[in-house]
Amino acid sequence: MENAGYADTRAAVAVQLSHETGIRFSGNDIVMTCGAAGGLNVVLKTILNHGDEVIVFAPYFMEFGNYIDNHGGVTTVLPTDDRFIPKLDVLEDAISAKTKAVLINSPNNPTGAVYGRDLIMELGELMRRKEAQYKEQIFLISDEAYRKIIYDGLPYPPVFHSYRHSIVVASHSKDLALAGERIGYIALHPDCGDHDELINGFVFSNRILGFVNAPAMMQHLVKHLQHVTVSVADYQRKRDFLYYNLVNMGYSVVKPQGAFYMFPESPVGNEMAFIDELRKDHVLVVPGRGFGTPGYFRISYCVDDKTLKGSLDGFKKAAQKFGLHTKS
Ligand SMILES: Cc1ncc(COP(=O)(O)O)c(C=O)c1O
Repeated sequence: MENAGYADTRAAVAVQLSHETGIRFSGNDIVMTCGAAGGLNVVLKTILNHGDEVIVFAPYFMEFGNYIDNHGGVTTVLPTDDRFIPKLDVLEDAISAKTKAVLINSPNNPTGAVYGRDLIMELGELMRRKEAQYKEQIFLISDEAYRKIIYDGLPYPPVFHSYRHSIVVASHSKDLALAGERIGYIALHPDCGDHDELINGFVFSNRILGFVNAPAMMQHLVKHLQHVTVSVADYQRKRDFLYYNLVNMGYSVVKPQGAFYMFPESPVGNEMAFIDELRKDHVLVVPGRGFGTPGYFRISYCVDDKTLKGSLDGFKKAAQKFGLHTKS
């Protein structure tokens, strides 16, 4: 196959992206990848020189740090606000001559936060200012593994509207509920500077990182599924069920707007003690420190209703043990 992926699959992705963004994409802007994980590694391999910095915002998908490290980069972690939204004034001060990219992830793993249009547009403006200051390209990499899983009819503002030097990395393992399958893509802004050189770099990196291109069979499949998404209403119902129950038990939770994760505050500073308590009742969650944010824990609610209902007792017992008070 072509190392970028089958031409008809890339064309199908381009049609869908053009429809979503109103920007005209062609197959030449797309590289099919081994999931978002493969895509991010391909992008970072292509753009990073040894010692270049990539900025991420905590809480973040911990593998980002490993991916950046894979290609000689240095991860700079910045905080978010109390709703897990990046603070642009902090970013403004943090971008330096060594910054090669800012990596965002919305809807977010682990918080479920979705970045709004104002933030995305201001981010683009800020990065343009910084490019002018340092006279270097700074890339905005947008990990959109959960782009199709958004609740309450919220709009999804494309980074392509805000910034020319943007690279989207997407996955079908979430929007088609194919966890474990390796299929996703990279989409480069059609007007990005050094467009063809970057695409050539992605294509070459896709070939040499060891996984060698996106799987053929999945490319044939997803060509027909670009407009298809799992039932978001089902996930929203699960979110609502868990969110209202946890809040009633006294947990402090920012209501997720997308993806299928919730990131409540641990009732004790050391979330490991809390997680051990939950485990006694067979409720398994992930410590916030695994996402660069101790004192929180992540729940994945992409499970069947029986499992979700079955977890409530454990959450309730742990809440009482650590002194939370029921709301109603
Ligand atoms: C934020 C984020 N990015 C990337 C990935 C990797 O996605 P894929 O399965 O397509 O490699 C995941 C998977 O959990 C994720 O949560």
